[in-house]
Amino acid sequence: MAIIVLKITDTITIVRRRNPQQLMEAVVDQLEQGLLDSLEQEGFRPLGLATGRTMEPLYAALVSRIREWPTDRLQLLLQRWLSFNLDEYVGLPPEHPSSFSAFMGHHLVRPLGLNPAQVLLPDGAATNPAAAADCFAAKIRSAGGIGAQLLGLGSNGHVGFNEPPCGPDVRCRLVRLSPTTRLQNAAAFQGNPRLVPEEAITLGLQEILAANELHLIVTGAAKAEILRKALDTEGDPEVPASWLRRHPSLWLWVDDAAWGEEGQ
Ligand code: GLP
Repeated sequence: MAIIVLKITDTITIVRRRNPQQLMEAVVDQLEQGLLDSLEQEGFRPLGLATGRTMEPLYAALVSRIREWPTDRLQLLLQRWLSFNLDEYVGLPPEHPSSFSAFMGHHLVRPLGLNPAQVLLPDGAATNPAAAADCFAAKIRSAGGIGAQLLGLGSNGHVGFNEPPCGPDVRCRLVRLSPTTRLQNAAAFQGNPRLVPEEAITLGLQEILAANELHLIVTGAAKAEILRKALDTEGDPEVPASWLRRHPSLWLWVDDAAWGEEGQ
């Protein structure tokens, strides 16, 4: 299969594939190599993980690839695994089916046989969510920061739950979700935006931009316009994803539809 890699600047690498399935195989090629390298080296930084519909086929592809590994390698991976998720809703216990914790359990933890204690998310059920955000940031710092950070793109340009307007220096914190985001994520709450929690804990742009590598994954025609805005402006508070262009190693993984050229 032809690999379309467009390098538009020294810091952004764009990998474009025809459809989400082909795109996720390409992402998994790279993630798998990173995981294999992490088994050979000490001091590898943990993965930064994301949730959302975009990520579902990615985790499915990653799980089926890793399941083909020889048992000794798989066991070593499970022993050494450490990842931090971007965000979690406030007010949902981890066992709530719409929590991001439940999402990770369903798509990654149980299929791979990971220990949930090694797949960390902010504690959305904490009585003091602001303190829980500080605690999550401290755990990331003590793990040495994030290595490769996966990111989806919100329909309003958010990454994690960094809602517009948003500058590049915001840290892990308690945030209020915008009506647009609650509408976007209503499918996981019986289609009812009012059931989507009003608040969340999210990593800030500051922790995200401190990762070694960023991997922004965008699929579907509905994201084409906001993706174009994020690429065309550098640092617009109204499009939080536009701050990602400041990162020295940004990978954009995109399918034809999100690139705006479906069927061409
Ligand atoms: C959600 C999450 C983001 C996610 C984005 C895209 O609200 N907080 O981390 O990447 O929005 O979601 P989806 O892939 O479902 O479009």
